[in-house]
Amino acid sequence: MRDTAFKDMQDLAAGSPLVLSDLFDKDASRAQKLTLEQGGIIADFSKQRVDDAALDALFNLAKACDLSGWRDKLFSGAKINTSEDRAVLHPALRGVGGDDAVKAAVKAMRARMRDYADKIRSDGTFKAIVHVGIGGSDLGPRLIADAFLAAAPQALELRFAENVDGASVNDALDGLDPKTTLVIVVSKSFGTQETKMNGDAARDWLGEYGASNMIAVSANNEGAQAFGIAPENIFDFWDWVGGRYSVWSAVGLSLQIAYGPKLFDEFLAGAADMDVHFRDADFNQNMPVMMALIGIWNRNALGYGNQAVIPYARRIRKLSAFLQQLEMESNGKSKGRDGTDAGVTCPVIWGDEGTNGQHAFFQWLHQGTPGAPVDFVAVLKDHSGRPDHHRALLANCFAQSEALMVGKTEAVVRAEMKGDPDIDALAPQKAFPGNRPSTTLLLNDLSPHTVGSLIALYEHKTFVQGVIWGVNSFDQWGVQLGKVLAGTILSELAGGPAQTHDSSTAALIKRATQKFAD
Ligand code: F6P
Repeated sequence: MRDTAFKDMQDLAAGSPLVLSDLFDKDASRAQKLTLEQGGIIADFSKQRVDDAALDALFNLAKACDLSGWRDKLFSGAKINTSEDRAVLHPALRGVGGDDAVKAAVKAMRARMRDYADKIRSDGTFKAIVHVGIGGSDLGPRLIADAFLAAAPQALELRFAENVDGASVNDALDGLDPKTTLVIVVSKSFGTQETKMNGDAARDWLGEYGASNMIAVSANNEGAQAFGIAPENIFDFWDWVGGRYSVWSAVGLSLQIAYGPKLFDEFLAGAADMDVHFRDADFNQNMPVMMALIGIWNRNALGYGNQAVIPYARRIRKLSAFLQQLEMESNGKSKGRDGTDAGVTCPVIWGDEGTNGQHAFFQWLHQGTPGAPVDFVAVLKDHSGRPDHHRALLANCFAQSEALMVGKTEAVVRAEMKGDPDIDALAPQKAFPGNRPSTTLLLNDLSPHTVGSLIALYEHKTFVQGVIWGVNSFDQWGVQLGKVLAGTILSELAGGPAQTHDSSTAALIKRATQKFAD
């Protein structure tokens, strides 16, 4: 059933290609029909190359993949992370889904976080927080630390150390006073090389304050204790929270301390709104479902290999980096849950903030081959206190999606260049193909509530696409091999016996070993 629905969708796309300007000409209400509103977010899908037939084929595919059933399993706490035999309950961290035991555990965790954050904020001992973690233990808190700045200043300075490059922890600690710095080591597994090395470096730097000024957040309590953190200084979370879905858990503790529990609660509430919408709304009114299915169309029917995400908002400029982990670590798989080939799955996710990108890679988006679908993310409210700048920012955002769609034909360019002796060489180069798809997500504001909804929107989009592709979106076996080989090579670089490698890797190791010996 799924294969047939998939083929039907692809056959439909292989027929006569949809031209966006024709679709708008044919239907004056297209923009209105293809715009959804939810949780402070307006999602305009009308500049995507879909029509009613395409959407019907996509809804049919979703049904054939039992999307409703999978969605029920997600919220009920079924063990849908099959390769690790775990439930996937990040919505429960926002109060949606999970059984009574899960609800009670989340409630207790939230109360403990709140009490701790209030205490640190009120007693005045600490002036700065250094959050040590990487991947899912870093990208969410780092993105949201910037986003919350639109709503409130930080009560304590918040810095991050993630990379195993020593410059990362050096920069994070630079100029701080060990006496007034709280180091939070965040690692779900407490086995991550970068985090353990940076945690060690921070503890050395803390010196006599090492015991009092260092706490941990982990699902591996024993590992955190073995690292030297006292049990009362460990904030637990659970194996049913995936690292890239964990900002809502105690992983967000540094945010709570820096900005206060109230903002964090609003962030959770925004995500909860999106959870309920995703759980209850019909597919054709369901923002994450629509977003995901249109992404499937772009990837599997139109053949786009990548997806750009361009936030026209400095405070969420790290969104694309966050989504790279969320989507590519979740769905960057080539085998399905049953071990068979999954076919073509997650595109490359990339991007940078607008308008900066316009002066870098937008040339490629407009005229490069084959281009990429774009998510434009803009904010209606001005948070900068500079309304002229904000108008210009929005004008640029809207102009780019319009330009990508309408393009500029060679005939128009030729008419403009009439009489120019170089017209034959230049006119084709100055023409824009147009018909390039985009979605615009217009946020009412950058409140924690809206930002929470936005992140949950992308989480559920990722879930839906994983269901359609038939992959387990909640494991990441593909990161293991490199970690194992790095361990072997590290021991060689530290003077251990040489191991067998290909000649390229062996030569690189030799050069580095010689350099260390200099
Ligand atoms: O290497 C990938 C990964 O396992 C991610 O999935 C995870 O978010 C990150 O490393 C950090 O892991 P941890 O929180 O266990 O230190």
